[in-house]
Formats: sequence, C-alpha cells, structure tokens
Amino acid sequence: MDVTVKHGRVESERAEVLVLLQAEDEPLSEDANRIDRVLRGGLRELLKSGEFHGKPLQTALVHTHGLAAAKRVLLVGIGKRQDAKLDTFRQALGTAVKRVRQAGARGFTVVFPRITLPKTPPLQIAQAMAEGAILGGYQFTQYRSQNGEDLKTVERMTLLAPDAAGGDVQTGVRQGVAAAEAAWFVRDLCNHPSNVMTPSRIAMEARRIAKERGVSLKILERRDMERLGMGALLGVARGSHEAPKFLILEYRGPGARSSAFAAGSETSRQNGRGRNGGRPRGPIVLVGKTITFDTGGISLKPAENMEQMKADMTGGAEVLATVRAVARLRLPIHVIGILPATENMPGGNAMKPGDIVTTLSGKTVEVQNTDAEGRLILADGLAYATRLKPAAVVDIATLTGACMVALGQFAIGMFGNEAWLKERIAAAGQTAGERVWEMPLWDDYFEQLRSDVADMRNIGGRGGGMITAALFLSKFVGDVPWVHLDIASTDWSERERAYISKGPTAIGTRLLIQFLINEGTRA
Ligand code: BES
Ligand code: MN
Ligand code: ZN
Repeated sequence: MDVTVKHGRVESERAEVLVLLQAEDEPLSEDANRIDRVLRGGLRELLKSGEFHGKPLQTALVHTHGLAAAKRVLLVGIGKRQDAKLDTFRQALGTAVKRVRQAGARGFTVVFPRITLPKTPPLQIAQAMAEGAILGGYQFTQYRSQNGEDLKTVERMTLLAPDAAGGDVQTGVRQGVAAAEAAWFVRDLCNHPSNVMTPSRIAMEARRIAKERGVSLKILERRDMERLGMGALLGVARGSHEAPKFLILEYRGPGARSSAFAAGSETSRQNGRGRNGGRPRGPIVLVGKTITFDTGGISLKPAENMEQMKADMTGGAEVLATVRAVARLRLPIHVIGILPATENMPGGNAMKPGDIVTTLSGKTVEVQNTDAEGRLILADGLAYATRLKPAAVVDIATLTGACMVALGQFAIGMFGNEAWLKERIAAAGQTAGERVWEMPLWDDYFEQLRSDVADMRNIGGRGGGMITAALFLSKFVGDVPWVHLDIASTDWSERERAYISKGPTAIGTRLLIQFLINEGTRA
C-alpha cells in the first residue's frame, strides 16, 4: 500500500473514504465537526441516536451525497480517551482498512487525530497508523485461482496531518511502512507451504535482499558446515533430502564500522572488547530459527495441526525481513542476520534418539528427542554468532510448545543475561505492540539437562520446558550480551484480529526493527 502525508482541510479532501477516529462517549472531534457542518449534522445524529458511541473498533460509514468533497465518511471508534495506547491506533487503522475494502474503495484518507498520549511523540502515532493500515489489509492469495470477493485490495492511504507535526509524521510513516512491509514479507514466507519455502528458496530470498544497498550475503553449504564442525545443524538435516543452508546476511549502515567477515582480525577483536558508553562495540547479531518444516523427526509429531509446522521458520524469516527493513531505512548501525536453515524430517538417514552430536562450540549433545531440533540448530547458529565479536546477540525462535502453555497468545517469552539488553528489547516490544515477558534463566534448571553420556542432553524432561530450552541455548553464547525470544506462543493466530491475520502473525518482526531503530538513534 502506498502511504502519503498531506496537509489540508478535511472539508476539501477529495477522498473515496474519509476516515475519522472518534473517542468513546465524547462529542464529535473537531475535525468530524467540520465535516459534519457540510453534512448538515448527519454525524451528530449518529451519535445522538445511540447508533455509534465510539467504542473500540466500532465503525459507521455514511455517504456524503455530494455535500462534501469526500464520497464517504467512516467513523472508527477508539474507546475511552484515557485508555488510548499506541496499539489503539494500529487497531483502529486495521479495522478501517477492512471496512474501506469491504466498501469496494481503493484508497482512503485518514485524519491525523488530535489526541495526545503521554510520552508518545506524533512520530510514533503516525508510525502505528501506517502499520495498522498495512497489516490490517494483509491477504495471502497467491495460491487461489479465482478472483473472489476477498481479493479486493486497498492501494492508497493518505494521512491528512496538521502542519505543526510535519517532518515527524513523515518519518513515522516511513518507519511504519518499512516495519509493516517487513511483517507482510514474513507472513508470506510463513504462509508458503514447505514444498515451496525450502532452505534453498529461503537462500534465494536472502540473495534478493542482498541487492539492497549496504547488504552482503554469505551462504554456507553442507560441505562448509562439515568443515566448520556444525554437527548439531547437520544432525537435524540428516533426515531430509533438502539441502541445509546456513545464511549470513550483513548490513553495514552509513557510519557503522567493522566487518564481521573479518572476525578474528585485530580490528574486530578490538571492536568486540572495546567499550562505548559502558557497552561493548561491534555488530548486533540476530539469529533466527529456520526449520522450514518440523515433523519432529524420528520423534514424530502427532498429525493434528502439524501443517502449522511450515511456520517453524518464522524466526529466520523475521531476521531476513529485519535486515531488509533496516537497509531500506538506511539505519546507521551494523547488523548481522544468521539463519541456520533445514527441514526436520524422519528420513532413513535421520538422527535417532540417543545419538550424540558435536556442536560447533565443541560441546557434545545427546539427542534424546529429535523434535527438540530448534535448540540444536540454534546452538550452532549462536556459536557462530559469538565468533563475530558482537555487541549483542538476539535470537528469535518458535522454540517450545511449553511457551504456549506458559504465556498463551499475547506474550513473547524473553530470556537474557544482561539487564540493559533485556530492557531495550522490552521497550521496543512495548512500542511495537509485541510485548515480551521475562522468564528465569537460573542455572538450577541445568540438572534437568544433564546427560549420562554427553555434555548435556537436548530435552529437560517434565516441567519448565521453555526455561530448559533457553538454558540449553545459553550454554552456547558464553558471556556475550544475549537475549532469547521464544515466539512459539505468538507466531500463529487462530483468528483474525484488527491488524493480526489468521495464521502466521509475524509477531516479533516489528519488535526487532524497533529495537534497531532505537539503537540507531542512540548511536
Ligand atoms: N517447533 C516446535 C515448537 C512449537 C510447537 C512451535 C508448537 C509452535 C507451535 C519445536 O521444535 C518442538 O517440537 N518443541 C518440542 C520440544 C520438546 C520435544 C522438548 C515441544 O515443545 O514439544
Ligand atoms: Mn520440534
Ligand atoms: Zn521446531
């Protein structure tokens, strides 16, 4: 969708639909009042009659019959003024875009609201509005052969902004468009079935992203992994006929120093250990779990809902999309994205329970359950990441069913070893409306991971399944500042919400991008 910012008067805005946000149980907003004067009181009538209160996500569409420059006016309720949050605006625009689409219109104008939020600049409100509109319009139609009712699309949004907010609104829209398009990209990748979205296809997507300014790509093939000793990733890949790929995407923005591919050289060592305002310098490394289909392997999953395991590459897709977004935004940061990519299949050559693999770090793991494969490929991904002398590592993964049990569908599970990094991730999640909840990373739980024959085993037995998985990962990051995000509770939605589609949600993408936007302003 095309989003543009414009200044002007609501009365003279020639839109197919003019959208106005309306707070609950309040008289018409100033802008609604202006248009209502030319409409001879039609909107006030709606309120007076009790037909429309402005409750959250309530809508009312009226035709203007040539009285106003706009063809129709759409009121969207945003609930009580004092309850308004950034997400209120995302939800309102997600709702608006669906109503506009239903009306058959291809474009709309939304009036920038005069409501203010504490500690929230207009930039963020504009960003949230652009995000809500783009995300709310998400559809995945590539495999449908007929053009049905649901194939209508809204192509243009104009944000009618007050003059005072000028440049900020423009920046917010730019960021919102980049973040929401990144989430579209992730939803698309997750919606594609696993017979299409293979590790090789993901490598192809990465190649396309590497065409962006400032982005370079390195692809490790099976023989490279063997040479390096990525026994955990190779172990998972054994059961599949699809070639595994290990992707390393690097983005160096304007002003960012140090190349990760020169890791081990004197400069990168200095960058890794040097201090900058009390924080280590070096790239921010993102690692995303990229299992293009998780059957469970020999520890086969039950058939019910197994098709959802095509989205077990969500973490990797989010890392790809994030690199693309920060490149498009030209953020002044240094970011590396890592995707260990493979299927988890029960082929004749597959890993079997009890097999022992030697990870890139040198640590050995007894694979007691082949369905706990995410932590195996991440072990090698994280070990590789730590060699790049990073300032911080963030991994994101659809890691455990236990995450869903513990947190349900509204929170991402967060673990980490540094307070400052956890705080920044949590703050980004709050802004993005993709909130995290911290879980303990206490070493006490490690007794559950002890193996009789290897350095550790890959499952933690009964109790604390999300925690033992995170603790397993922690053994591969050393003392590098690190956060692990378990998105297994949020990556898939059972129902369509205001701006969250049914199926793959891409939740986590905008958190990562917001985190990097914030790091870019800090630098
Ligand atoms: N990809 C799954 C986790 C998952 C489950 C994500 C449901 C989204 C929805 C992961 O690889 C897995 O199978 N985890 C096992 C671990 C267990 C064997 C210790 C699980 O959670 O059951
Ligand atoms: Mn699994
Ligand atoms: Zn998995």
